[in-house]
Amino acid sequence: MAPLPVPFWLLGWHLAAPSAWAGAGGRAHGVLPHGLGPTVVTPSSLLSVRANLIPSPPTFNSDYGYISWEAYANVSYYTRVLPPVPDNCPTPMGTKGKRQLPDPQLLAERFLLRQKFEADPRGTNLMFAFFAQHFTHQFFKTSGKMGRGFTKALGHGVDLGHLYGDNLQRQHQLRLFQDGKLKFQVVDGEVYPPMVTHAPVHMVYPSAVPKEKQLAMGQEVFGLLPGLCMYSTLWLREHNRVCDILKQEHPTWSDEQLFQTARLILIDAGAALCLTHVPACVLTLQIGGTQTINANVLQVAIGVIKESRQLRLQPFNEYRKRFGMKPYKSFQELTGEEEKAAELEELYGDIDALEFYPGLLLEKPQPNGIFGESMVEIGAPFSLKGLFGNPICSPEYWKPSTFGGETGFEIVKTASLEKLVCLNVKKCPYVAFHVPDALENGSPWGDGPSTEL
Ligand code: HEM
Repeated sequence: MAPLPVPFWLLGWHLAAPSAWAGAGGRAHGVLPHGLGPTVVTPSSLLSVRANLIPSPPTFNSDYGYISWEAYANVSYYTRVLPPVPDNCPTPMGTKGKRQLPDPQLLAERFLLRQKFEADPRGTNLMFAFFAQHFTHQFFKTSGKMGRGFTKALGHGVDLGHLYGDNLQRQHQLRLFQDGKLKFQVVDGEVYPPMVTHAPVHMVYPSAVPKEKQLAMGQEVFGLLPGLCMYSTLWLREHNRVCDILKQEHPTWSDEQLFQTARLILIDAGAALCLTHVPACVLTLQIGGTQTINANVLQVAIGVIKESRQLRLQPFNEYRKRFGMKPYKSFQELTGEEEKAAELEELYGDIDALEFYPGLLLEKPQPNGIFGESMVEIGAPFSLKGLFGNPICSPEYWKPSTFGGETGFEIVKTASLEKLVCLNVKKCPYVAFHVPDALENGSPWGDGPSTEL
């Protein structure tokens, strides 16, 4: 069978074939898109095997621990691969462990709080952290009103809802309706997102910030952190830049067609950046087995522990089994040391009662790695399923005409972090996901993704 076209960034992940897309098809929600049926089946690759660990159609959610139509059809839910621990179990984690789980504050302060600053030996920088935060907030949008088991991001995947808004009304408020472009403002000769007074969308800002000083962006919370505003500004400039190129190629196109085609180009570029730069970066982040949470965000970690209890997440070892790994037999085996292991044993009573999130963070790093095994083995299948399930990975979409012809296709095929920045700022700065001297320090980044920039 002749090879079918697939996005280069899937090929960049070496093993991918159309089967990767096909294997990922299917209706799913949470972070996953829906409505994509498998059409092509060729020999499976490691990637599609990984992606296939995530079921489609989806199975459970926080209210349905059994197969149900509601769990399939109500796409406001985050889907779950394991059902919640039933309410009437003898212990909070099922049958194992103590009747009372450890105090979340105590857990966070004793085991997660950073004791001293340790530079990431691989030199990963804030540009990466903000990229990850910006990117993931397009599909992780937990609903405050409906509860922690629900998402507001009904696009369920890489749709750039964080740039264009997650519903049509918001999108229309953000659009200029001229040449496909998004609204913008010019400050000191440079383009920025418009103010809320010009693009009236709801934004979350501290109450002291008046409307005239609130930037209007696709995602409600992006005004809260400078790095998120920075990426929003870059993507907005990129959208309008691509519109200019498309307009030159297709002078007769309507505003709508220019907008929609530019959006597809940017969705692909976003996915490409994520897949070509992020995996290696993620694998270099220092998390597993060490205490790295800054005091300023410790409350977030405490909140995560509390919410995972409300959601009745199954024990860490159950998730390990679900993703094909051996359950840990002891806390010593988990942490690779004695002291913290003994304290955890005292608190939880049984390794099979250890909670999911502390388990992920306390697991010893892999040899030559910095993450624990579970972070990658459980995290990667979700990411791959979400990306492969995107329609742009289908042979029907992955062709020049989808992107307005060869020029647009070339933009998606050559997308990079450096281009995103340097084509949209006056003076091209240092652009990378690692600090400049990381290379001199013998970092693996020396021959990693950054050099392709
Ligand atoms: C300055 C650093 C950061 C602060 C202050 C921060 C703060 C927060 C807070 C307060 C929440 C809400 C927690 C809750 O509802 O219980 C949250 C959620 C979240 N954060 Fe962060 N965070 C930071 C960095 C990051 C980074 C680097 C990422 C990269 C992946 C990230 C990804 C997420 C995601 C995916 C959520 C869940 C969002 C949702 O479901 O609605 N955050 N963060």
